Amino acid sequence: MKQKILFAAIFLLLAAASLSAQSYYIGNPSANCAGCHSEAVGIWQASKHAGSFTNHQSFLSFECMKCHNTGWDTETVNYGVDEYVTSNPGGTPDYTVTDQTNFDLVKNVQCESCHGTQGTSNRQIDFGTHFGPRVTDFGAEKCGTCHNDKHHPYFDEWTESTHSSGAPSFINRASYSSCMKCHFTQDFVAYVTDPAYDATTFQVEGGDENLKPITCVACHDPHGNSNDGNLRNVPDAFADKPLCDVCHNAAHVTSVNLTRNPSHTKALVIDGSPFFGFQYPGQTYENSFHTNISNRCESCHVHKGADDATGHKFLPSEEKCQQCHADFNLTGFDYRGVQTEIMGLIDQLQAKLDAATSADSLTDTFLQARYNLRSAQAEGSYGIHNTKLVRKLLNDAIGSLTGVASENGVPATYQLAQNYPNPFNPATTIKFSVPEASNVKITVYDALGKEISVLVNEYLTPGNYNTSWNAAGNASGIYLYKLETTGFTKVMKMLLVK
Ligand code: HEC
Ligand code: HEC
Ligand code: HEC
Ligand code: HEC
Ligand code: HEC
Ligand code: HEC
Ligand code: HEC
Ligand code: HEC
Ligand code: HEC
Repeated sequence: MKQKILFAAIFLLLAAASLSAQSYYIGNPSANCAGCHSEAVGIWQASKHAGSFTNHQSFLSFECMKCHNTGWDTETVNYGVDEYVTSNPGGTPDYTVTDQTNFDLVKNVQCESCHGTQGTSNRQIDFGTHFGPRVTDFGAEKCGTCHNDKHHPYFDEWTESTHSSGAPSFINRASYSSCMKCHFTQDFVAYVTDPAYDATTFQVEGGDENLKPITCVACHDPHGNSNDGNLRNVPDAFADKPLCDVCHNAAHVTSVNLTRNPSHTKALVIDGSPFFGFQYPGQTYENSFHTNISNRCESCHVHKGADDATGHKFLPSEEKCQQCHADFNLTGFDYRGVQTEIMGLIDQLQAKLDAATSADSLTDTFLQARYNLRSAQAEGSYGIHNTKLVRKLLNDAIGSLTGVASENGVPATYQLAQNYPNPFNPATTIKFSVPEASNVKITVYDALGKEISVLVNEYLTPGNYNTSWNAAGNASGIYLYKLETTGFTKVMKMLLVK
């Protein structure tokens, strides 16, 4: 700390002299930056950026210079690499280094390729730049100046993915601080690197209007590290999970709200989370193998193709499926007809829900089934993520929905009929009649009087109705069902035999 203050004091003095001067490349990090940033320099020296010219020197030509070195900028004289090399058409190599000493200072992709010019015209650190107001660039555009075009269109592909469009526009720190770490790069980097990160007080350089979506720097450590592709290390809490899962997990979804649209379902489905869909009590929901794949999202969603594709649209590719499924020979992902099957179940369930009367639409049975429909629709892969879970949730929902159907005629009295069939397994139908418009509730209890399910709970017009109960998740035994309105109550027994 003391050291920093001392530096700052000296530099501020120097800064005054060079305030509005143009800034120049200084180059040579080992000599010019290591004294104060030894850690960053050490890490960078081990990265591929540090050898991007040196390591490929023998086959780099003039046109390669701009991306494999520091400071290519033909508009300005600022000691960038373009000042020290000229084209030499037909020669071997097809370029001439005009000033080897200065060329060597700015060869390879150095600190200033990302952090910008740091020097004065006499190649001293420019402390005006250094301690002036500066905002570290978390954007993707600068990386994109080199990581694009013929060397694989990482940047162009990334701009097509929703990672580049970032957070839904309503997410802001004031109301949604808990959402920041997965929806913005600065917060994410702080979250994975700083154990003391606190979203409510976190300050972004330049203010929150400077927040970036999920850029290159969210996933890649810009200085390098020993991981493949320099992917960021993830906090210990996620040690068993790869990078994608730090955001694409839904640990924050801890309940099912049947009246709302399910959120973050892709993460939930691949986790086989108990909060994916409405899981009927007593049923067993199995996971598919895909939930066990290590680096699971990457395994299907990031594929570098022979056609220069980089996988940075983050969409699944058939080549990936083929790596594990030798007989995979499709365009699309309808392997073993799973997507057709799931789409069929979705249509079937949708049709049942559409056929429901307005009276039906407030029952638990309806809301549960509708929630499963919406979950299956939002899961995004038509069952590929977790075939067994999605298939069963849809089938269970369809089974539960025989519905509260209205029949003709206006009855004279309230009636609650004996269920049929009885005994039953697992579903049974209950007819009842309502002579006057009223609030009607039908509840199922077990033999001890514990509430098991609410089959009907709504305002009904006069008529004959039926509802049904799917007891798939319940144990054999006697159950009671009770009809209640303001002027009438009746309880009946039924017998579930499995
Ligand atoms: C004499 C010491 C010194 C030298 C030499 C030096 N720096 Fe710095 N640099 C600092 C200090 C001190 C800070 C402020 C650090 C802080 O705010 O935590 C800083 C800040 C930075 C930052 C901003 C970090 C942030 O948190 O936003 C970058 C980037 C940086 N330096 C890069 C460089 C590069 C590249 C070089 C070599 C060309 C270099 N520095 C040379 C001392 C130095
Ligand atoms: C538009 C910027 C750009 C230009 C121009 C460019 N490169 Fe690259 N090069 C990159 C980037 C970015 C990477 C690293 C990422 C990757 O693997 O695509 C790279 C990686 C490489 C690699 C190492 C990785 C590999 O693919 O084997 C070699 C070798 C290479 N380039 C050679 C060349 C040659 C030779 C030329 C000139 C004919 C050239 N580059 C021109 C940006 C460029
Ligand atoms: C490929 C681009 C890139 C290169 C090359 C690069 N940096 Fe950075 N640097 C960044 C980005 C982006 C951040 C902010 C994100 C982060 O901290 O991970 C950053 C953060 C920093 C910081 C502040 C946070 C910290 O890690 O201490 C310093 C200081 C710094 N860089 C210095 C350097 C120095 C010195 C070099 C050269 C040895 C260098 N950087 C090379 C992109 C780069
Ligand atoms: C001035 C051009 C340039 C810029 C700017 C640049 N890179 Fe690179 N990058 C390269 C080149 C060239 C290579 C290939 C080096 C090699 O293989 O020799 C490379 C390699 C990489 C690699 C592969 C490293 C590995 O070990 O596999 C990653 C990841 C990467 N860059 C990420 C980034 C990110 C993130 C940014 C922006 C913060 C960025 N780069 C900015 C030119 C650039
Ligand atoms: C959502 C996370 C994510 C984002 C955002 C992202 N990448 Fe990647 N990137 C990956 C993954 C995963 C890989 C594959 C790493 C591996 O080799 O296992 C990869 C690979 C790469 C590689 C090849 C590294 C190698 O060694 O072959 C480069 C270069 C690269 N990314 C550059 C970029 C650039 C530039 C951007 C921004 C335009 C970017 N990435 C954005 C996740 C991401
Ligand atoms: C920093 C958090 C974060 C990380 C890390 C991350 N993602 Fe994402 N991802 C998001 C967010 C947030 C969205 C949704 C953005 C939106 O809808 O506005 C998203 C969207 C997606 C989408 C939908 C793409 C589309 O265009 O529809 C896919 C697929 C995806 N991510 C895959 C991955 C993969 C694969 C990885 C790991 C290589 C990864 N993500 C890493 C946060 C992250
Ligand atoms: C643990 C990381 C994480 C947190 C925390 C998080 N999100 Fe997300 N969010 C994601 C990812 C990843 C996606 C991409 C879609 C997916 O994988 O489900 C996403 C997508 C979204 C979408 C796009 C629609 C969708 O569901 O696909 C909305 C809207 C959204 N998030 C809102 C929020 C809100 C509001 C909060 C805070 C209450 C929040 N998120 C907290 C990771 C997170
Ligand atoms: C077994 C391969 C596989 C795995 C593993 C996988 N996905 Fe998918 N994913 C798919 C397929 C196939 C689709 C549907 C693509 C289509 O039909 O075009 C898909 C669709 C998606 C979509 C919707 C894309 C869109 O266009 O709307 C998102 C988001 C998504 N997956 C995120 C993830 C995340 C996050 C993970 C990791 C937690 C993951 N996936 C793991 C295969 C996979
Ligand atoms: C990392 C290996 C791996 C990848 C990548 C992978 N799968 Fe699988 N998949 C498996 C294994 C293992 C099984 C379980 C054994 C079996 O059914 O063949 C499986 C099962 C399946 C099933 C049957 C699921 C069930 O529970 O009935 C389908 C459908 C499927 N995969 C489709 C795909 C598609 C589509 C892709 C590409 C988007 C893909 N897989 C990518 C390993 C993988």
